[in-house]
Amino acid sequence: MAISEEFKQELKRRLNIADIIGEYVTLKKSGRGLMGKCPFHGDSTPSFSVSPELGVYHCFGCNASGDIVGFVRQMEHLDYIDAIRWLAQKAGLTVPENDTDTASAKLRQRIFEANREAAHFYVRQLYTPEGQEALSYLKKRRLSSATITHFGLGYSPKSRFALVSHLKSKGFSGTEMIQANLANLSQKGNPYDRFSDRVMFPIIDLQRRVIGFGGRIMSDIKPKYLNTSETPVFNKSQNLYALQFAKNEAHGQLILVEGYMDVIALHQAGFQNAVATLGTALTQEQALIIKRYCDEVVICYDADEAGQKATARAIGILRPTGLNIRILTVPNGKDPDEFIKSHGEQGAARFRMLLNKSGNDVDYRLNRLRARYQLDITQQRVDFLTEACKLLATLDNSIEKDIYIAKLSEELSIDKAALKQQTEKYTRINNRRTARQEQQEIRRTLSLTRENTGNAASCNLRAASTEEALIALLIAHPDIAAGLFPTLSPELFSTLFYRKVYETLRHRAAQGYDFSITDISDSFSEDEVSRIARILAVHPREEDPRAAAKDYIEILHEEAERLTPEQIAAADNDTLLEQVRRLRNKKQ
Ligand code: CTP
Ligand code: MN
Repeated sequence: MAISEEFKQELKRRLNIADIIGEYVTLKKSGRGLMGKCPFHGDSTPSFSVSPELGVYHCFGCNASGDIVGFVRQMEHLDYIDAIRWLAQKAGLTVPENDTDTASAKLRQRIFEANREAAHFYVRQLYTPEGQEALSYLKKRRLSSATITHFGLGYSPKSRFALVSHLKSKGFSGTEMIQANLANLSQKGNPYDRFSDRVMFPIIDLQRRVIGFGGRIMSDIKPKYLNTSETPVFNKSQNLYALQFAKNEAHGQLILVEGYMDVIALHQAGFQNAVATLGTALTQEQALIIKRYCDEVVICYDADEAGQKATARAIGILRPTGLNIRILTVPNGKDPDEFIKSHGEQGAARFRMLLNKSGNDVDYRLNRLRARYQLDITQQRVDFLTEACKLLATLDNSIEKDIYIAKLSEELSIDKAALKQQTEKYTRINNRRTARQEQQEIRRTLSLTRENTGNAASCNLRAASTEEALIALLIAHPDIAAGLFPTLSPELFSTLFYRKVYETLRHRAAQGYDFSITDISDSFSEDEVSRIARILAVHPREEDPRAAAKDYIEILHEEAERLTPEQIAAADNDTLLEQVRRLRNKKQ
């Protein structure tokens, strides 16, 4: 997707990265830039820096970085072109049509339109004689008319050509219907409806677009739910059901449930902060989305064994985000929908009570563990405590650890010091393991550096870090760059990536184009842009940039001459490791 230079210039003139980020993060002036709490990880101290001057952000905690487009992409979950549209809207501009005229953007657009048309069609069917049964099914499940409308619920007719004929009459092609996964292809090569005789749940994203559907059968036929498979607009791991409503009602807390019906029943009962995954297990991406809208998540999965396994898994995925986690277990093996329904008028109040008394995830895990042992048998008590200490050793927060040690010691009348000692032992083992993993990672980085580069000199870290600093300097000082381009050969860059960046800068300058990070972001992948932004953010402004540039170039010449493959081969791994570590520390 190519956006014209003129348009990008105009966008840049009208927008300021600090204003855009300021809508999500409270930024305070600090040195040359601004600092705030990172919106992408559980940030307790402000480690997120924004430089309006360079047009980049960088988090010193989680290493997230990028330009204004990257920020919007990550924050709003948009692809490149949608992020540009989003920004254009902020700036009061419209992206010129021919700019978006690529085949894939067009197809996505058509799929959104087909989905919207289908959603409306399904809703209408619910109120026809044929949809009568589906409507009474929903009523039987205690959904009010308002709720049915609010969630856009519908009905897909029995005929396997109902939607296909309708979409055809609206000008959609068979290919579009199939790409949207609204239709399947028959053996004869004709499209037919994917969903038939099901209650339809449209899945809507944060931009209020219909991205897919879930369809529930009203009998015992399997599968109970049929969902849209992956399409160019539907990614199950990056969306959550009902988030478009829940995000505004979170007030610090989201409730995570398993099913569409659970979400709907909870919203109807006044818990409009409930969301669900889309028929798949929770993913890391979804955990980060949840983190963006709240500080606390209440996992409320089914009470059966599968639900409890899923709970344990979800805890593992949610913990690293820094979210506060609570577990709500619905009694008598019911799911939240059944629980609320079974208590009639009192359903909401009863659920509120469960919510209030839901414990945190450590309590939950200790309880699960405890249930596996007979604590009146001495050996089993020892085994339980050993496992409990192992569990506590995985907690980062030492106050939290102490609290649970005190609880356990009281509960089982065991000396606190002994439990503490045991827990610390396991903590040390864990730390040693982490240190070993870190070593392995460093080794991997090193071998990657070697593989990824065209010539041997690139595994010289002095050269690589100098190239990085030089690139940062050139982007920050276009005037100095302009003076260097004619004589500074790309060959001097030993690292392929920096060489590519340098060539791009030089090429753009030759065409008379600017090369701030936003200007060049078109030429690089999202990861690469993020890497360039990081370089810009971590390299301090030089007092005397002209002199610094000269020094850097001198070093590059030196390095290019000095290094031979033999020397590289001879350098021992520990020296290289030490250098990588120093380089990293300097960066952080
Ligand atoms: N699910 C699915 N495919 C299935 C069964 C379930 O995609 N064959 C997903 C759906 O998103 C569903 C969720 O898993 O909402 C939870 O499944 P389940 O607990 O079986 O369904 P409920 O939500 O309780 O549905 P209902 O109350 O309608 O039986
Ligand atoms: Mn259910």
